[in-house]
Amino acid sequence: MKTVVITGGTDGMGKALACACLRRGERVVVIGTSARKGAAVLDVAAELDAAQRVEFIQADLSLVSENRRVIEQITSAYQVVDALVLGARYFRATRSVTEEGFEANFALFYLSRYLFAQGLAA
Ligand SMILES: NC(=O)c1ccc[n+]([C@@H]2O[C@H](COP(=O)([O-])OP(=O)(O)OC[C@H]3O[C@@H](n4cnc5c(N)ncnc54)[C@H](OP(=O)(O)O)[C@@H]3O)[C@@H](O)[C@H]2O)c1
Repeated sequence: MKTVVITGGTDGMGKALACACLRRGERVVVIGTSARKGAAVLDVAAELDAAQRVEFIQADLSLVSENRRVIEQITSAYQVVDALVLGARYFRATRSVTEEGFEANFALFYLSRYLFAQGLAA
């Protein structure tokens, strides 16, 4: 069974892709900040009789520490990640700096994607 990791898998295209993967019989890990949206994905999985093949990880991927925590959680739980979709997005039109000191758009759009790509590479 393939394992697919989708950042931003709780809404929009990421969620649609997560549902498509579940329908295809794949295992899916979705990541987002909202517990409500995460629960909605779990509900869809239950309707598809795929509750055993889905995991929601709540995390703010604009924080390096959160990226590291999630990557550690995934690498501990799954031997192989077959596909990685980097879809998390939240665009801020005004400058915002994370508590770790990074400009927030840079942190989510670039830094998180770099950390995931490096952290989950075989
Ligand atoms: N829509 C378009 O027309 C379009 C066009 C070209 C490319 N894209 C790209 O395709 C991807 C998906 O777009 P979309 O429109 O489907 O996105 P979307 O509906 O806005 O969904 C964004 C996802 O990112 C998650 N997210 C936001 N901030 C986060 C954070 N700090 N940490 C973790 N997750 C976070 C959201 O979950 P929470 O709300 O739970 O945090 C949600 O699951 C994006 O990368 C976008 O740039 C979109």
